[in-house]
This record gives sequence, structure tokens and C-alpha cells, in this order.
Amino acid sequence: MKATFTLLPGDGIGTEVIAEARKLLAAIATRFNHDFTLKEALIGGAAIDASGDPLPPETIALCERADAVLLGAVGGPKWSDPNAPVRPEQGLLKLRATLGVYANLRPVAPHPVAAKHAPIKAELLQGVDLLFVRELTGGAYFGEKGRERDGQVAFDVSRYSVAEVERVTRRAAQLARGRRSKITHVDKANVLETSRLWRSVVTRVLGEEFPDIEFEHVLVDAMTMYLLHRPASFDVILTENLFGDILTDEASVLAGSMGLLPSASIGDGKAGLYEPIHGSAPDIAGKGIANPYATLLSVALALRHSLGLEDEARVVEAAVSQALDAGVLTHDLTAEGAVSTSQAGDYVAAKVRDAG
Ligand code: IPM
Ligand code: MN
Repeated sequence: MKATFTLLPGDGIGTEVIAEARKLLAAIATRFNHDFTLKEALIGGAAIDASGDPLPPETIALCERADAVLLGAVGGPKWSDPNAPVRPEQGLLKLRATLGVYANLRPVAPHPVAAKHAPIKAELLQGVDLLFVRELTGGAYFGEKGRERDGQVAFDVSRYSVAEVERVTRRAAQLARGRRSKITHVDKANVLETSRLWRSVVTRVLGEEFPDIEFEHVLVDAMTMYLLHRPASFDVILTENLFGDILTDEASVLAGSMGLLPSASIGDGKAGLYEPIHGSAPDIAGKGIANPYATLLSVALALRHSLGLEDEARVVEAAVSQALDAGVLTHDLTAEGAVSTSQAGDYVAAKVRDAG
């Protein structure tokens, strides 16, 4: 198969983990005889430094033409002055909106090695297999923002339309059908009007179009507790943009490290956007010690969701799992004998090359 990937290393450890994604894509191409073209472009702080624009037009063009976009991370102390006119994160948000990737999939299925690192009792992690479906292009992230009264008052409007809720609900339901057919919709319907809209749309869409799916509504404050008390009782977790951002960081604790969690952002268009859920980690950037597995698992999601290459995706997931089993662990997962970012990436690429 011929496919084009646009790689956006971004800032901090983003460049280090994307270098490992390159190795992995080369290994997959060799092993399965695919013809992958890799392009690279600037985003975030790196793009601000080069041109003043966190998402330059050349980057947009390369992303729109790609089959899949792989992003490292954006942001860092250099660009986080609250009064700065532009911020790296604006580049990422604009990219999500431009590509129309309204459904952000964040699977959380802790590997046994995680049990040792998660501050959660091992027995509670048994059988945990979650798929968060976070709405990604609406809500407070994209509503009107501003200041009033000489800067003394600030606001971020959270707005959702019925159509926005319908499309992400349908996506979640289709995904749930391939799993355990259960959806937990998370909101704050006792307080927020947007949540009341979500609740009624989710109830109608699932009730009318997906009668085979079991569903429940849970308030977000309660959900933060349930996620730690009984994570194995959930399957697909559907929620709006800001709640999804917060809950998925919380869920990463179940996996033992942020460095293990990938994400896929998809819409109705061609290119999907794939990125680890972790950030640019300025504290460890440039040291060659970042965990590349979340990015490599994001490559697997790109193969699955944008290219339809399920076998290849599984080979990548198996290779990462073997690396964890074999104790090929970066510093976030082990105190002793940690491997470097590139050693971890080399191990996975070699396993993929030898697979099957
Ligand atoms: C994430 C990140 C982003 C978000 C930031 C970098 C804008 O935290 O992907 O979860 O809030 O969506
Ligand atoms: Mn986040």
C-alpha cells in the first residue's frame, strides 16, 4: 500500500519520540512491503520560533494531503508567558479544528508491568480495558474567549450543537459495538445547560439508533472517583472536550505512566491525527530518556484507523507489549536499568521487522 504520513515533532520530547516513530514506520514498510512517504513540518513553539505562527500554512497543507498525521507534543516554558500574543497550543487546537477531527479516542488497557507502577491496588486493575471518546473540536476550548472590564473579568464560553453531539455519539456507539457494547456518558447535567443537551441527544441517538448498546449517564465529579474505585466496570466512556482532557490524564494513572497512552483523533475527512496523550515534558527534554511507547502505539492507531491496516497495527501493539514484558523500560517505568528512548524504539522496530 502507498501512504503518506506527515510527522509533526513539535517541542520538547516531541522531537525525540517522533524520531522513534520514523524508525517504526520504516520497519513496518519493510516487513509488510508498503510504500510509506514521510514528510515533516513545524508546529507549536518550534513553528513560532521559525515564523511567528504556531500552525504555518505549509504545515496545514502537508497535513491535509496526508493519510495520517503524527504529532509529538507542543508547548514549553519558553512560550508560556500568559501575556504572549501566540501560544504553541493554539497550533494544535487549530490543527484539530482544520482537520475536523471531532472524536478523540484514548484507549487505556494497562499492561501488567503497569500494575507495579500504578499507585492503585493491582486487583483493581485486573480486566481494565477502557476506551475514552472525547469530543475534540467544541466546548470551552473553542467557544468565545475574552476579557472584560479592563481585564478584571475573563470568560470562556462552552457551546455545543445537537449535530456536534450526535456525530461523536454515533462514533462512540460504532466503536462500542466492536467491544463490550457499553457506553458511560459523563457530564455535569445537574449544573450545565450544555450537559443537559448532551444527555438528551445521547439518550435519543443511542435509544433510537443503537438499541443493542447499554448506556448510563454519570456526573463528572462522581466519575473521577469511580475511575479509581472500579475502573474495570467501564467500557466506552463518552464525554465533552474539557472533561475528556481531565479524565484521560486521571486514567493514565491506571496505566502506570503517561508514556504508555496513545490517542487517535478522527473525523469524517481523510487525515486522522495521532498523538501520545503526554505533553512536551520540558523537564526531561533533550536527555534521550523519554518513553516512546505512547507514540509507537499511536502509530498503531494510525495504521488501524486511517489506513485500515489491522494486522500491522496488531504487530506494533504486540511488539510494544513484548518490549514491556522483556523489561525494556524507560526511566518512567523503572528505577534501575532504564533504557534510552532510542534503545526502546530500536527494540520495537526490530521486533516488528522479525514479526510473523
Ligand atoms: C491533550 C493536551 C491538549 C489539550 C493541550 C496541549 C492543548 O492536554 O491533548 O490532552 O488540552 O487537548
Ligand atoms: Mn490533556
